[in-house]
Amino acid sequence: MSEPLVLDGVRKTFRDFWGRPTVEAVKGLSFTVGAGEVFGLLGPNGSGKSTTIKMLLGLLRRDGGDIRVFGEPPTSKRAHAAVGYLPEITYLHPFLTPRETLRYYGRLFGLGGKTLHDRVEDLLRLAGVDHVADRRVGTFSKGMTRRVGLAQALLNAPQLLVLDEPTSGLDPIGTREVKDLILGLKARGIAVLMSSHLLPDVQDCCDRILILDRGECRAQGRIRDLKESLEAFFLETVDRTERVSPLEAAGGLPWLGGTQA
Ligand SMILES: Nc1ncnc2c1ncn2[C@@H]1O[C@H](COP(=O)(O)OP(=O)(O)OP(=O)(O)O)[C@@H](O)[C@H]1O
Ligand SMILES: [Mg+2]
Repeated sequence: MSEPLVLDGVRKTFRDFWGRPTVEAVKGLSFTVGAGEVFGLLGPNGSGKSTTIKMLLGLLRRDGGDIRVFGEPPTSKRAHAAVGYLPEITYLHPFLTPRETLRYYGRLFGLGGKTLHDRVEDLLRLAGVDHVADRRVGTFSKGMTRRVGLAQALLNAPQLLVLDEPTSGLDPIGTREVKDLILGLKARGIAVLMSSHLLPDVQDCCDRILILDRGECRAQGRIRDLKESLEAFFLETVDRTERVSPLEAAGGLPWLGGTQA
């Protein structure tokens, strides 16, 4: 069977209204996610994680290179059927409960009857939201909302799960729980691609990671083999932040904070 995901020299340049290039967001990215593997895209803000994810989901057109999802182009029906997606921001209807939300999206996937009922109940339990299944989502904390989003991403029983910053906004316990959930899915043979800007968030759940920096791959492999690259990358990004420190920039704004003579 084909690999769940293969990217080969993928490029994306955003352009303005007149077609002039504005941002080279992804510059020739190649990586593969194998069956039952958890793969992490690690990179700071703006490094191209979400752009890469949107291209492999077929939501954004690439400018070059090739993407295969189980051997198919990302826009194909078969690719869509095999992939589950948790967006960077979970948009859920605030007046629906988790149970209603999952039933609604399940019907959109063409599920019904006992299959829909059983799958929704299984997912409510799996995501740990069964005890609040009849409370409106609008009253939930970020962590609970994220769990409902994860359950939603699993409704179509995907073979590849794509999670854009699944742990963003979660506290250490919430992060641990999401990581355990990811490991549980891996144990069922589901391949996972997740992104994060924090090393601890990908550390003990990813088999391999790719360090993404301004649209380019800096290194990829097992975390324990990437120690030097990770250290160098960390120091460099800290240095870069210091050079363009927003605090310094704010120091040049006499109207902002401080006491004026
Ligand atoms: N629709 C767009 N039009 C123009 N530029 C864009 C668009 N989307 C993203 N970009 C730019 O592409 C680059 C990569 O953005 P992307 O959202 O992929 O980064 P990211 O790694 O997901 O960042 P974050 O950690 O903040 O989510 C950034 O410079 C961003 O400003
Ligand atoms: Mg992003």
